[in-house]
Amino acid sequence: MMFEKKILITGGAGFIGSHVIRRFVNNYSNCLIINIDKLTYAGNLENLKEIETKSNYRFVKGDIVDADFIFKLFEEHQFDGVIHLAAESHVDRSISNPIEFINTNIIGTANLLNAFRSICKNTDEKRFYHVSTDEVYGSLGESGFFTEETSYDPRSPYSASKASSDHLVRAYHHTFKIPVVISNCSNNYGSHQFPEKLIPLAINNIKNNKPVPVYGEGVNIRDWLFVEDHALAIDMIYHKGKIGETYNIGGSNEWKNIDLIHKLCEIMDKKLNRLAGTSAKLITFVKDRAGHDLRYAIDSSKIQAALGWKPSVTFEQGLEKTVDWYLANEAWLNHITSGAYKTYYKQQYNIA
Ligand code: NAD
Ligand code: DAU
Repeated sequence: MMFEKKILITGGAGFIGSHVIRRFVNNYSNCLIINIDKLTYAGNLENLKEIETKSNYRFVKGDIVDADFIFKLFEEHQFDGVIHLAAESHVDRSISNPIEFINTNIIGTANLLNAFRSICKNTDEKRFYHVSTDEVYGSLGESGFFTEETSYDPRSPYSASKASSDHLVRAYHHTFKIPVVISNCSNNYGSHQFPEKLIPLAINNIKNNKPVPVYGEGVNIRDWLFVEDHALAIDMIYHKGKIGETYNIGGSNEWKNIDLIHKLCEIMDKKLNRLAGTSAKLITFVKDRAGHDLRYAIDSSKIQAALGWKPSVTFEQGLEKTVDWYLANEAWLNHITSGAYKTYYKQQYNIA
């Protein structure tokens, strides 16, 4: 079958990547979507079950740090576009093992840029879309918002590695004139998120009557966005975003961690038919994260005005959908928390 375009999506077996892949495979049948993913602990092919047999989808297991592999892949496919999501993404892990973050997030991005440059041939028809985070801007006090003009001030090994990759993307655009676009998004939540991140971790622990760890006093603030709204923004930016531009994406939905956990406990009590207040008894204050950023908040007026994007669900709707998904997908949770999904790969895909 002939396809009009070939799009490479990196990190498509991860949380956000799997939502982006699902969206693109279902909505763009004229495009061949190629997913490359190393399948680290965070990559899970079970996330893509619904679309894995579609004719416009291919999976290739591979490491973006492996320059030879990346060059060969680009040479073979001459991609029209790249949407780059592959990354080490968890701040706590970057504190215990920064080198993995430097390798994947910085060297990996540089390898993709070099390979993309080699197939670009001075055309603005192609595009390299780099998906990044609001954490590059540092931490806010009680007021203010991150805009596209906010100076970079990354404060964890994770955010420093993402900031470095953003700088590389802009530098390649400036120096080599390759067509790029970047977005910086706030905290995502939704289905298929690895249960080390706050919301799925709390849902899983509440379900299993285990302590829900809240770092420090729980006063840190995050701006939460439903993952499908991020995937929609990525789709709009990929297709309509202006070359060389950056777009901030956020939910205009700030929550103190402790208030968010209380809200989640209320929902879980209802869903699990528990007495009101039962789940909240599991809240346990633990040692704070080193260098814990106080507050993130995004001003997303640019993408709203330029591309007409806005979040489609309220936080209450999104949280409820998310809780329903985790409760309905016990097997997914059990596989990913026990490591059994590796056995599934072997049986299903013959991948080690
Ligand atoms: P994730 O950890 O769930 O998924 C990352 C994926 O990348 C996994 O499938 C993993 O196997 C793959 N990967 C890791 N190293 C690789 C390598 N060397 N080669 C190939 N594949 C590799 O992450 P996520 O939360 O889905 O985040 C995706 C992207 O979005 C990241 O770039 C992240 O910085 C960014 N982002 C995330 C959030 C959020 O709230 N989760 C918010 C803003 C931006
Ligand atoms: O802002 C975007 C970023 O959001 C993304 O770039 C990252 O990839 C993503 O992991 C996320 O980073 P955070 O560090 O904000 O997410 P996390 O879910 O780890 O933590 C959310 C908040 O909850 C943070 O203030 C730390 C706190 N926390 C986290 C965990 C895992 C707890 O209090 N207890 C926990 O057990």
